[in-house]
Amino acid sequence: MNTNPSNLWTSAEHALGYLVRADAIPHRTEGEAVLLDHVLKTVQRILDLGTRDGRLLALLKIDRPLAQGIALEFSPAILAAAQSQFATDPTVKVVTHNLDHPLPELGPFDAIISSFAIHHLDRCP
Ligand SMILES: C[S@@+](CC[C@H](N)C(=O)[O-])C[C@H]1O[C@@H](n2cnc3c(N)ncnc32)[C@H](O)[C@@H]1O
Repeated sequence: MNTNPSNLWTSAEHALGYLVRADAIPHRTEGEAVLLDHVLKTVQRILDLGTRDGRLLALLKIDRPLAQGIALEFSPAILAAAQSQFATDPTVKVVTHNLDHPLPELGPFDAIISSFAIHHLDRCP
């Protein structure tokens, strides 16, 4: 449940509109390239906060196929996209969670990543 009325991501219209616009965000690929340079290829566990369709986690997994991933998302309209992205990848688990609340027990991570997501929160997870 969305307890933050200023967060529009539980609206299907808002969420699906973003899926259409996402690839047009200026300098997005440059930012992603910097992240790819900074996350070790030997990383074992990655947490992606506000994963949407899992784009960032999927990019990291290309060169880190053995890494375990948790793709965390709360929007019902978006969750199907994340589940579809990782449907055939047993190393990634899609977890439904609203980051306005403390994280569930997910174990330790070597990298916690997030793209265009945590600025929607009232406070850090
Ligand atoms: C602008 S999108 C970015 C998605 C993805 N990280 C990307 O780079 O394309 C923001 C994402 O954060 C998710 N999000 C926003 N508030 C959230 C919350 N409180 N808990 C979990 N996910 C949230 C939205 O549903 C959406 O998928």
